[in-house]
Amino acid sequence: MTDEFICNTSEVRSFIGMVKEIVSGTDSVETRLTAIRPHFSRMMADPDWLPAEFRRTPEAGGMGKGIANWLLYRDTEGTLSLCALVLPPGAVTPIHDHLAWGLVGLYVGEQDEEIYEAATPVGPDDRHTNLTLVSKKHLNVGSFYELIPPKGDIHRVVTTSDEPSISLHLLGNDVGCIWRHTFVPETGAVAPFRSGYSNKECENDNRNHDS
Ligand SMILES: [Fe+2]
Repeated sequence: MTDEFICNTSEVRSFIGMVKEIVSGTDSVETRLTAIRPHFSRMMADPDWLPAEFRRTPEAGGMGKGIANWLLYRDTEGTLSLCALVLPPGAVTPIHDHLAWGLVGLYVGEQDEEIYEAATPVGPDDRHTNLTLVSKKHLNVGSFYELIPPKGDIHRVVTTSDEPSISLHLLGNDVGCIWRHTFVPETGAVAPFRSGYSNKECENDNRNHDS
């Protein structure tokens, strides 16, 4: 098994190479994010490297109708992935978590983001939690946010531009294939959630879930 470069461009290869070097140099998430930030900013400042096939919005997707989650890269251990989330105008994601450190940056368009916090850590089998909305942000091209779970880990985004928005997700897991959660703050409901990717299958696992 080798790393999968689905978007096999020199820009992605060089970015991932730098990220892996940084990650192997420290266990501190804060130090990793600080070192990765300038490289991530450079990716968002270059409008041309992402091929058209990873900018499309399909009819159906795990994140919701018309929302695409294109896997660009993942490693073999499930400890690093890069993907492009494409949301049509007005499309909104469910409120969801990510369960890994990461950086999410806006590459195209504009989004509004709502960030939530759970009253207590949400375990794999939890089906209820009290969620509080802790902040709202407007994201333009080049803005990004950090995930340092549990800080910043639960959110939803909506596209506010007339064109689809594309956000780049660099995460310390295989985010499309792991089981995570969606949330309904009005009822406190928590549901198991696996978003999948629009261009890659996930291995089946034996985990029981009720979705
Ligand atoms: Fe997200």
